Amino acid sequence: MLQFKVDTEKCIRCGECARDCFAGVIGEDGDGLPMVVPEREGLCIECQHCLAVCPAGALSVFGLDPEAGRPLKGGMPDPGRMETLLMGRRSVRRYKKEGVDPALIRHLLEVASHAPTAVNRRPVRLTVVDDPAAMDRLRRAATDAALKRLRDGTIPAGYERIGDYLKNGRKDEDVIFRGAPHVLLATAPETALSPMADGHIVMSYFDLLASSHGLGTVWDGIARAVISAVCPELRDLLGIPADHVIVCVMAFGKPAVTYHRTVQRPGCDIHSATI
Ligand SMILES: Cc1cc2nc3c(=O)[nH]c(=O)nc-3n(C[C@H](O)[C@H](O)[C@H](O)COP(=O)(O)O)c2cc1C
Repeated sequence: MLQFKVDTEKCIRCGECARDCFAGVIGEDGDGLPMVVPEREGLCIECQHCLAVCPAGALSVFGLDPEAGRPLKGGMPDPGRMETLLMGRRSVRRYKKEGVDPALIRHLLEVASHAPTAVNRRPVRLTVVDDPAAMDRLRRAATDAALKRLRDGTIPAGYERIGDYLKNGRKDEDVIFRGAPHVLLATAPETALSPMADGHIVMSYFDLLASSHGLGTVWDGIARAVISAVCPELRDLLGIPADHVIVCVMAFGKPAVTYHRTVQRPGCDIHSATI
């Protein structure tokens, strides 16, 4: 049930809701007011564009109050600061021992959850270790289990580089989680429409938002490999559902390092197609 409601006093009959509904679910009644076209109702993907695009705040779906959304006018970051964030965030591999306020972590996760997903299905589950003491238990368990695999020669084929990282790590270096006080995993049902892209996009949102709050992050392919393939028993420790693929892992916390300028990279291979 869409619970599609129009405040007829507020509606200015501009037709924007109908024009912006890509599924064509919204039509107009005889008075020019928006209405759901009954035979198209099942095509709604619950994107809420109708609610967001209404200039008068006259439209509600799913029982939501349009006034409860954040107003957008004048609220976007200016491009220069946005560019500084995109170019200035770095992979942080040195962390302070102290944890991040759990309320801030929760807030970052809620905002990052606004990331787009294929057909608005939102299949991603975010598993966070928000207690630094729990993180230390995970660190110990992962390190011990991975080192045992290395000693026993049971690192799975294709993951030999994980053994190399463990071997080459400096004394007491946490090569798996980089000494971070927290870790975040994006997982999704393997059968979801687009689990890998959906998970990576949510994680990118988290990465940039956390950086804007002065936190450090590092995309953690080693932790992903260790948890998903080298020592899969760690999945249970973390409560990862059996049917979920671990899309990506990110360690984060308060950085014990400051970067003073951006790095200078050649860009991607940018190709202007001439058709
Ligand atoms: C998918 C992915 C996996 C990564 N895995 C690791 C990792 O396991 N450990 C690590 O220290 N850095 C990891 N990194 C960080 C990269 O090494 C880093 O992004 C790259 O060197 C560029 O540095 P920058 O992020 O500071 O710009 C990973 C990055 C990505 C995108």
